[in-house]
Amino acid sequence: MEEWGGGYVTDIEYVDGFYVDQSPRWMTLTATLNGVHAPDFSGRFAYCELGCGRGVTSSILAAVHPQGQFHAIDFHPAHIAFARDQALSAGLGNLAFHELSFADLAGPAGDALPMFDAITMHGVWSWVAPELQDAIVAFIDKRLKPGGLVYVSYNALPGWSSIAPMQRLMRELASLAFARSDVAAGRAAAMIRSLAEAKILPDSTDASRKRILELAGKGHLAYLAHEYLNEHWRPVYHLDVARALGKAKLSLAGSTDLLRNFHNVTYSAEQRDLLAAVPSPELRETLRDFHDDVWFRRDVYVRGERRMPASRREEILADLRLTLKKAPPETFEITRPDGASWQPEPLIFRPILAALAEGPCRVADLMALGEIPGVSAVELVGVLVGSGLATVFDRPSPEAVQASDRLNALIDMRESPRTTRSTVIAAPALGAAVSLSGLDLGLYEDLQKGGAPDAEDLARRYAILCQEESASFVLEGKPVEDPAEVHAALVREYAERIDRVIPLWRMMGIVPNGPGG
Ligand SMILES: C[S@@+](CC[C@H](N)C(=O)[O-])C[C@H]1O[C@@H](n2cnc3c(N)ncnc32)[C@H](O)[C@@H]1O
Repeated sequence: MEEWGGGYVTDIEYVDGFYVDQSPRWMTLTATLNGVHAPDFSGRFAYCELGCGRGVTSSILAAVHPQGQFHAIDFHPAHIAFARDQALSAGLGNLAFHELSFADLAGPAGDALPMFDAITMHGVWSWVAPELQDAIVAFIDKRLKPGGLVYVSYNALPGWSSIAPMQRLMRELASLAFARSDVAAGRAAAMIRSLAEAKILPDSTDASRKRILELAGKGHLAYLAHEYLNEHWRPVYHLDVARALGKAKLSLAGSTDLLRNFHNVTYSAEQRDLLAAVPSPELRETLRDFHDDVWFRRDVYVRGERRMPASRREEILADLRLTLKKAPPETFEITRPDGASWQPEPLIFRPILAALAEGPCRVADLMALGEIPGVSAVELVGVLVGSGLATVFDRPSPEAVQASDRLNALIDMRESPRTTRSTVIAAPALGAAVSLSGLDLGLYEDLQKGGAPDAEDLARRYAILCQEESASFVLEGKPVEDPAEVHAALVREYAERIDRVIPLWRMMGIVPNGPGG
């Protein structure tokens, strides 16, 4: 067969995933938290995703934003065929998939595309050859509107430096297998395990082996192949990416890992002073990557940075509405970007979380609740959304709800494996998607059918699934074998979900309201 991938793994499809960082709402929030103006995505806009895989992210974003025109690009024909079929079946008339290589974007195919308000790529930059990175920059330079946003993620240095030798070994070992990439990845991982057991690979490689062996152990071989077997995979320093994107007049607006934008959370006053004294912004950011040991960067860039006064930023953020994504914990603690833990002031956040437990609230109203006055909108939104506890909520248009319902109806809830997979469903009120675990699925299905979920019944059904799929039920990291123990643990899990998760799903609008709701 002719090799058309230029060293990229093309003999297996990429694994599906939704990345909220690519959503207009999350990119806008990232820019706003950093005091940078973003385009207005509430009216008509044009959006482009590069390297879209099977199109999960673009399909969900097109469904929840019927006012936007979406274009998604990938050179893998199987990806594009699947994505087109799905968009057609869901009636997503505002989404076009294009089978194109990044190299083609400089030609007539690229010129036929509109000018974009946002161009995004997840898991692309550090996986493709330098000349393709140049083609991407040239495309952005030609096709991104002034003021437009770019989202890019990549494997970052210095975080990845210790893992790079293991990636090289994976690729070399896999090339000896003369097999399809996922099979080859599995064999290479097994060989790495044997080499380590025989102490040919020293204990110092423990940490870099761990990730590979964990992924292989869970059977994520397609992911492993795409992550480790590409010829041009090369982790990069932030400063090199920033300089490359600078050629398309882009500058960093902020990290979509929102807590990374709050320097006072992670760095001491002395560290902040030292960093502030470094005159190059790219080097300053790169030094922060050294400190935080970042191995994957996720950033928003803007073409033509326009800064807003702090008062305007407060106004925009105070006007947002937030809804809880997770049940509020007893003690609210946050893992900082450098891995340390941090507790936001309980006197401020306890009443705020209590109010959010009742339903979505305006940030301005939440700001008035704390027992200590003076929390800013930027701190409140940064902490709650950055920690993943809450997210931005906006009442969706009927068109967005209908398109999301059509797309969600295509998800085959019966597809195996049900116990280990996670399923993403479009959530128009969030401008994004919600991920459901294997345990969540039964509950979600019951609610969709308008039934009253019963913990005993759900537990029985899930235990049968575990048997059918030869999966163990894992509790606190350990597989539980005894059927009575499994049943009791499952009943507890489901009772907790019925009590604490269903109200959150209702607030997010992903399941119908209950009787009288
Ligand atoms: C690691 S995957 C990420 C997919 C998707 N963005 C995600 O994160 O789920 C990279 C994607 O880029 C596509 N790709 C790689 N090289 C390409 C090229 N030269 N032109 C267009 N697409 C390419 C691959 O087919 C693959 O779908």
